[in-house]
Amino acid sequence: MNRQLTCVTCGSTYPLEDQRLRCHCGGLLDVQLDMDSAPSPAAFAATFESRLPSRLPPDLSGVWRYRELVLDVPPDDLVTFPEGRTNLYDLDPTPLGLSALWAKHEGENPTGSFKDRGMTVAVSWARHQGARALICASTGNTSASLAAYGARAHIPVFVLIPEGKIAQGKLAQALAYGAHTLQIDGSFDDAMYAVEQMATQRNLTLVNSLNPFRLEGQKTIILDSFFQLGQMLPDWIIVPGGNLGNTSAFGKALIEMKALDLIDRVPRLAVIQAEGASPFARAAQGDFQHFEPMQPETVATAIRIGNPVNYEKAVRAIRFTDGIVTSVTDAEILKAKHDLDRQAIGCEPASAATLAGLRRLTREQVVRPGESVLLIITGNLLKDPDTTIALATGQTAALGIPGAAALDACANEPRHVPSDPETIAGIIEEELQ
Ligand SMILES: Cc1ncc(COP(=O)(O)O)c(C=O)c1O
Ligand SMILES: [Zn+2]
Repeated sequence: MNRQLTCVTCGSTYPLEDQRLRCHCGGLLDVQLDMDSAPSPAAFAATFESRLPSRLPPDLSGVWRYRELVLDVPPDDLVTFPEGRTNLYDLDPTPLGLSALWAKHEGENPTGSFKDRGMTVAVSWARHQGARALICASTGNTSASLAAYGARAHIPVFVLIPEGKIAQGKLAQALAYGAHTLQIDGSFDDAMYAVEQMATQRNLTLVNSLNPFRLEGQKTIILDSFFQLGQMLPDWIIVPGGNLGNTSAFGKALIEMKALDLIDRVPRLAVIQAEGASPFARAAQGDFQHFEPMQPETVATAIRIGNPVNYEKAVRAIRFTDGIVTSVTDAEILKAKHDLDRQAIGCEPASAATLAGLRRLTREQVVRPGESVLLIITGNLLKDPDTTIALATGQTAALGIPGAAALDACANEPRHVPSDPETIAGIIEEELQ
């Protein structure tokens, strides 16, 4: 299928190979698919399903399995682990009065977050284009993912991160996979501004979600869910919002699936932000007439973003899906994380914003009794061991979280015991009472 770059603001078009990050008007670019040459929905579905038993790496990937709707890249240029094909778990819908509740665990990707779905596409395309170096700003997961894909592609990687504000697991990955790691004295938004300036002037390939090829990969979270649910989608899809790449990608996936007749009813998107980093939720309150960036602060460092680059595309996604944007407190995020962790879903704080947001939306009767909901769990529990241990040891007050006392019931402190088996057995019996 043919593709070109199209500006979402003014509609200008550019060849796919054009190495620009934005339109001449400053607008964001989409990889636009020529729908006229598309096969029937049944033919699409049959092609995608036919790849399930295949052992070929592109077919094993939960991204490249849908390549007709992702990108045409010569097989030798593909950089794939493979990624995607993450599990979709059933949760108990009854406490919230829902008919069904699922969690798709993007933390099961090779580097532990959904970023791998976007990165396989952005890095494969960069290799195809002969990139000399790859660069990103990151709250952590993008740097971990880029470091890994860059290493596989043998292309040097530079990552800019806000010093002291990324979770340890993510920093460990970037360092271990050999990325040149530059810690800046500023926020993610400062890092994002810097990399965009440099990429344009210095011929460095930027792979943040401003890069439209990233979003083509992240669309497959929706495609994967659709096929895992037996070719249907629920009433609601709930996702955390930071730089709003997923929000934009999900909106684009749903626009295309509707245009291709793969779906006839569009699910509603609910985007959940942390209260201290909620510029999109605030803009939504005024029906997106006005946008004001903010100084972000939240325990969910992955979404500690005050000036999301994908704003216009995210607004399009909310409008197309009749979606909703809301925010939750850090204490609500950590309580939801604890509740997901105890079901062995296990996630980093940003991902738990989904369940916290769902609770708020059912309380407010926005999500109604009997509806079905899919939560997108964006990152793995092991990404942020410090917060998990603080929660288990009743130390959340030290993280500066208002309402932390309400989290005391989440504690599961390790006990110091002597090494003698008799005493240990006695303690086990006592705990089993
Ligand atoms: C775990 C996790 N959840 C959510 C997000 C936010 O995603 P987006 O920037 O696509 O809104 C990120 C981004 O870094 C993340 O790492
Ligand atoms: Zn334009």
